[in-house]
Amino acid sequence: MPHRDDEILAIRTVTLPRDTNAYGTIFGGYILSLIDQAGAIACHAVGAGTLVTVAMREVEFKSPVRVGDLVTCYARVLRVGRTSITATVRVEAVAPAAPGLRGRAREVTEAEVVYVQVGDDGRPCPIVVKDDQAPA
Ligand SMILES: CC(C)(COP(=O)(O)OP(=O)(O)OC[C@H]1O[C@@H](n2cnc3c(N)ncnc32)[C@H](O)[C@@H]1OP(=O)(O)O)[C@@H](O)C(=O)NCCC(=O)NCCS
Repeated sequence: MPHRDDEILAIRTVTLPRDTNAYGTIFGGYILSLIDQAGAIACHAVGAGTLVTVAMREVEFKSPVRVGDLVTCYARVLRVGRTSITATVRVEAVAPAAPGLRGRAREVTEAEVVYVQVGDDGRPCPIVVKDDQAPA
């Protein structure tokens, strides 16, 4: 499935055996890590500096991810506060056997992640977004 107009393709990766849980499907924490990174990538793309994650909301896994799946994280900035910035991340998976990897993408999860821009002292500092990059 192509990404939507306001999203960027933040991360695309193939899952490996090291990313599995005891049942052979992908460990949820691995996907959470991708979500965290993908959201931050979208925020950096609009001009955010050093970010720390302050909250991750409503991560519901709708379908399992298996070893060898091509996993894609699409991300977009939802809102920019004074020192916080929120991104939504959509995760899809495609089975490797799909011809040319153009098989049906399965919706894995969608999550909202809130980051805070911090200065060298680790304290929140104001975010300045590039003029043409403010979320609609
Ligand atoms: C993020 C952190 C710097 C914020 O410090 P703080 O003293 O709470 O800062 P403030 O109260 O001034 O809040 C800063 C911003 O974060 C937002 N914020 C704080 N907690 C939040 C939460 N739980 N959910 C959403 N936004 C939150 C505030 O609304 C504010 O946004 P704004 O400036 O856009 O209005 C501090 O909590 C921290 O260092 N947390 C640990 C972060 C971290 O290590 N993450 C990785 C974990 S492995």
